[in-house]
Amino acid sequence: MTDASAGGDSGTALIQLAGVIKTFGQGQAAFQALRGVDFAIDEGEFVAIMGPSGSGKSTVMNILGCLDIPTAGAYLFRGVHVERLSRNQRALLRRNYLGFVFQGFNLLGRTTALENVELPLLYRGETASARHAAARAALESVGLKGWETHGPSELSGGQQQRVAIARALVTDPAILLADEPTGNLDSRTSREIMELLGALNRDKGITILMVTHEPDMAAYAKRIIRFVDGRVESDVRNAHAQALAPPERGQLPASLAQSAPNGGRD
Ligand SMILES: Nc1ncnc2c1ncn2[C@@H]1O[C@H](COP(=O)(O)OP(=O)(O)OP(=O)(O)O)[C@@H](O)[C@H]1O
Ligand SMILES: [Mg+2]
Repeated sequence: MTDASAGGDSGTALIQLAGVIKTFGQGQAAFQALRGVDFAIDEGEFVAIMGPSGSGKSTVMNILGCLDIPTAGAYLFRGVHVERLSRNQRALLRRNYLGFVFQGFNLLGRTTALENVELPLLYRGETASARHAAARAALESVGLKGWETHGPSELSGGQQQRVAIARALVTDPAILLADEPTGNLDSRTSREIMELLGALNRDKGITILMVTHEPDMAAYAKRIIRFVDGRVESDVRNAHAQALAPPERGQLPASLAQSAPNGGRD
């Protein structure tokens, strides 16, 4: 099994895929969407996945997000073989360690920004006061302080995606997985979202893996993995983005959960 991870050569990677194959359908109709994918991602990285439509980007994100399992090959999360876990164990991994952002925001309508962000904590059974505090802090970290009581219909697309990012981060995940997070946004708003993701990675050490079709957006990442026909065609460092300060580890998640704005100013 390959060890040639482009990411981590120091100890255990956060995520490692080794020889991952994904086949949809059976017999004559079988289609191999992933044809032996290998890569590793370390804590603190900011990686963009690019590639043509149908090249397997979402398929690999779904496997990483525990929404699907590989047909063959290994998916290790902090050294644990995810493909050997039970369905329930995968659900726990998903709930406790992974944050998701989607192209279409996927917010609940008729529900305030604060309630949307609190939702993952509700599933965890946290108390109302802990939920409010964490959700307020998460909204503040994405620049939405003061927008807590607004519903999605009162927010712009960029603001809605910020709420979705806050919702993904409120549980203090080990990695943020984003499949075309700027796909529904105009280019200026897309840049704002990418600047936010860049800052979350740089200042708070949040590990990010995102899919994008747009080179301008991928340019914010520190590393770009390109898929073609279900395989990794290239995996390169982005020298320009690397000029940014190195991420500091271990700040945001804890502070997100703890920094109660007590001050319930509202
Ligand atoms: N559930 C499924 N059943 C059958 N085929 C599938 C399924 N999901 C994906 N595929 C096929 O696998 C291939 C890869 O799909 P995938 O969604 O990963 O592409 P993608 O790189 O994300 O493309 P896009 O840029 O258009 O989002 C495609 O040919 C797709 O039709
Ligand atoms: Mg896709």
